[in-house]
Amino acid sequence: MIDISIRELKNKTEIPYNLLFLADDSKDAVEDYINRGTCYGAYIGQTIVGIYVLLKTRPFTVELVNIAVKKEYQNKGIGKKMVLDAINRAKIGNFKVLDVGTGNCGIHQLALYQKCGFRITHVDHDFFKRHFDEKIIENGIECLDMIRMRIEL
Ligand code: COA
Repeated sequence: MIDISIRELKNKTEIPYNLLFLADDSKDAVEDYINRGTCYGAYIGQTIVGIYVLLKTRPFTVELVNIAVKKEYQNKGIGKKMVLDAINRAKIGNFKVLDVGTGNCGIHQLALYQKCGFRITHVDHDFFKRHFDEKIIENGIECLDMIRMRIEL
């Protein structure tokens, strides 16, 4: 098991944008939620290996709007540790609901969120068609719909 520590990234200069862009192709969206949300970095020693962002949306509701692990550190359990950390921080922050959204093609992501307790609430059909000009293909599947998921805290 890899030992990581997770802490809030208070200074904007600490934020590794290249990691955020692994999870989100939209530079405008990333910039927007970075300014409004709270970023957390996962570290091995002094090296940042992952990031996630929590954004308050509605009363008592927070959304995990971005989560990414450096390619060479993926599939080692770090993503799961970060999702569980996000759930814990949301609970401590007195939120009642944690939301997340992922593409229909994100097999790994859908497995990860469900293993951490998220349930599917609805599907935003054609979300990716509406918001992106270029086709996104992952796991040989075209990314068209946004699967919206939630965990009650
Ligand atoms: N079927 C079933 N389970 C799968 C799976 C599959 N095809 N692929 C992965 N999993 C499971 C793993 O087994 C693990 O569960 P376990 O601990 O019970 O074995 C769980 O998913 C999490 O794996 P983990 O190693 O913690 O994930 P990670 O460190 O690779 O991080 C991401 C996951 C998604 C954050 C990482 O792959 C990433 O940065 N991807 C690019 C950015 C991205 O897509 N972000 C999400 C946007 S919605």
